[in-house]
Amino acid sequence: MQYKIMLIEHNRLLLEQLSKVIENAPDMELEARFQSSSDALGQGRVFSPNIILLDAEIGNATELLQELIGVFPGAAVICTGEKWEAESTSHFIQAGASGYLIKPFTYNGLKEAIKIYTANGMEMDCHAMTFFSPKGKSGKTTLIANLAMAISRTTGEQVGIIDADLQFGDMAVFFNLEPQSTIVEAARDASFLSPLDLRSYYTKVNDKVYVLCGTKTPSLIDRVAIDSLEAVIKMSRSLFKYLLIDVPAGFNPTSIAAAEMSDTTYVVAMMNGGYEVKHVQRALEIFAGWEDCANRVKTVFTRVVPCNDQSRRKLTEAMGCPVEAVMPNAYMVVSKAADNGQMALDLEPDSPLAMSINYLAGRIIHPPAGGTGDD
Ligand SMILES: Nc1ncnc2c1ncn2[C@@H]1O[C@H](COP(=O)(O)OP(=O)(O)OP(=O)(O)O)[C@@H](O)[C@H]1O
Ligand SMILES: [Mg+2]
Repeated sequence: MQYKIMLIEHNRLLLEQLSKVIENAPDMELEARFQSSSDALGQGRVFSPNIILLDAEIGNATELLQELIGVFPGAAVICTGEKWEAESTSHFIQAGASGYLIKPFTYNGLKEAIKIYTANGMEMDCHAMTFFSPKGKSGKTTLIANLAMAISRTTGEQVGIIDADLQFGDMAVFFNLEPQSTIVEAARDASFLSPLDLRSYYTKVNDKVYVLCGTKTPSLIDRVAIDSLEAVIKMSRSLFKYLLIDVPAGFNPTSIAAAEMSDTTYVVAMMNGGYEVKHVQRALEIFAGWEDCANRVKTVFTRVVPCNDQSRRKLTEAMGCPVEAVMPNAYMVVSKAADNGQMALDLEPDSPLAMSINYLAGRIIHPPAGGTGDD
């Protein structure tokens, strides 16, 4: 496709520099360029661009954006700025921009931005979820990986996974990925990245599911500062409709930060002798400090035998609060899937595990109005 671009840039030097990038591009045409926004809306009306790059650092950029959308209904407006900030970007997206691009940009950066923003737009209402476990070996990595696939298949939406289990993250192994970059590089670069740049730090599983893989060696944990992790999560929210975050077991700065930045936190525990109920209850007591804890924190038990609604209700009774979902004992299918480098969901799509995962995916996609139905 030939992109017909209108460039609006108040800085003369940048106007020259960005014009050259577009003029030298094989599949782009610089239809018009303006240093002044009033010219763009005045004499610019004779042009019919399909992409408008709007300098978002002009004083009245929001008004201008809305006027441009009215005058050029066939064009996608991408705002440009020298730094990415979640609040101002979200403001522009709400006002109708298709995306936000950091300048100066290269041909590849511009092309990627146009491709992604015109296809998916920038995500505005991401549902971010942290999967927390009081103790290790809860089945949460297995759950996240399969759940991400189930959600993407049902919705066709973009789903991201962040492996923030900084020391022992194994999401890459799970999906058989060989990441070029990991959360360490993403965190290092977070302060000067835009969401679009961050996307290239994710490793692709398929067209819909992307993973920001964990550190390659446990000692690299020190390289991921909490504020950088927060920046990565914040930015990732504008890339994906659903964001699933794997965190280290227990309460620690990483798991707390991720949970605080998420819309929902799932407390996950694997049945193994019965103490799990106590562990989860204790974890919930800590989360109870959140005002909206009842809506934001949900419980999932894995390896529940028998895995049915009656067991879920029994666990609800023992817990004294609703249990969102139960996963069956699926050791065989989970380990067979791991050996084959496949998802359990794909290996046995009709298995009880697949059914439980699809059930939970369904509740994430269409949250029931009246809670769990237990009360
Ligand atoms: N539903 C299940 N039934 C039985 N075994 C399971 C189930 N889910 C996962 N497992 C097995 O339990 C072990 C731990 O699973 P997983 O790695 O998903 O848990 P985790 O909570 O992420 O563990 P870690 O604390 O090591 O990160 C794995 O050997 C996995 O094969
Ligand atoms: Mg894990």
